[in-house]
Amino acid sequence: MVGDLLVTSRPLAEYRAMFALTDDDLRRSMLDCAGGAASFTAEVRGLGGQATACDPSYATGADALAELTARETRRGNDYVRAHADEYVWTHFTDPDDHLAQRADAGRRFVADYTAHRERYVHGWLPELPFADNAFELVLCSHLLFSYADRLPFEFHRAAIAELSRVAERQVRIFPLLAMGLQRYERLGELRAALATAGIGTEIRSVDYEFQRGADAMLVCRPIGC
Ligand SMILES: C[S@@+](CC[C@H](N)C(=O)[O-])C[C@H]1O[C@@H](n2cnc3c(N)ncnc32)[C@H](O)[C@@H]1O
Repeated sequence: MVGDLLVTSRPLAEYRAMFALTDDDLRRSMLDCAGGAASFTAEVRGLGGQATACDPSYATGADALAELTARETRRGNDYVRAHADEYVWTHFTDPDDHLAQRADAGRRFVADYTAHRERYVHGWLPELPFADNAFELVLCSHLLFSYADRLPFEFHRAAIAELSRVAERQVRIFPLLAMGLQRYERLGELRAALATAGIGTEIRSVDYEFQRGADAMLVCRPIGC
């Protein structure tokens, strides 16, 4: 499923802040799903780490993905410009800075995708092509909750169960708000359903807020661990 979901390109600096990643975390094996055009995997690999990205758009050749990334960076920035009051301008100074940072991340992603295609696995939730506990830490940025208007409750439940299946230690999900700042009304019900499946959840504040009010992540781990 890609449809009209944006394929965005956040850099490692944003991932670090959104997911409160420590230097220790960055030494773990990590999956970024949905990876989109983020430069997280490229930058972590550049530091000697073990990151892999997974996204439905990775069936695409490098040239077409480079075009898509540039187009989507512009589309995302157009939205931010048109809705500037929905954002807190501390991480980015203004929409031009947002465009510059995201475009730079997009270029890093495309260069790494071109040179190291094996780091970018074509796949989609809620069924991932990885073994149980394949990664120590699994990150999910701006797919779940962000598109709650298009992705139903059952998709969220099944997707988090699947991310948890491939995570040995933890899944971290950010943000907990939809585009347009809508709260995810069924978060309590979702956490209860996950608990029934043996997945414990915790809402943890983070030191990052770009979308106004989006300053917490959901941490998921097996109950009892
Ligand atoms: C807004 S982007 C987020 C990209 C990146 N994580 C970031 O923060 O910049 C959402 C991504 O979700 C991907 N996507 C759409 N449907 C998906 C699915 N069913 N499973 C996994 N990824 C999906 C899209 O291709 C897109 O790259």
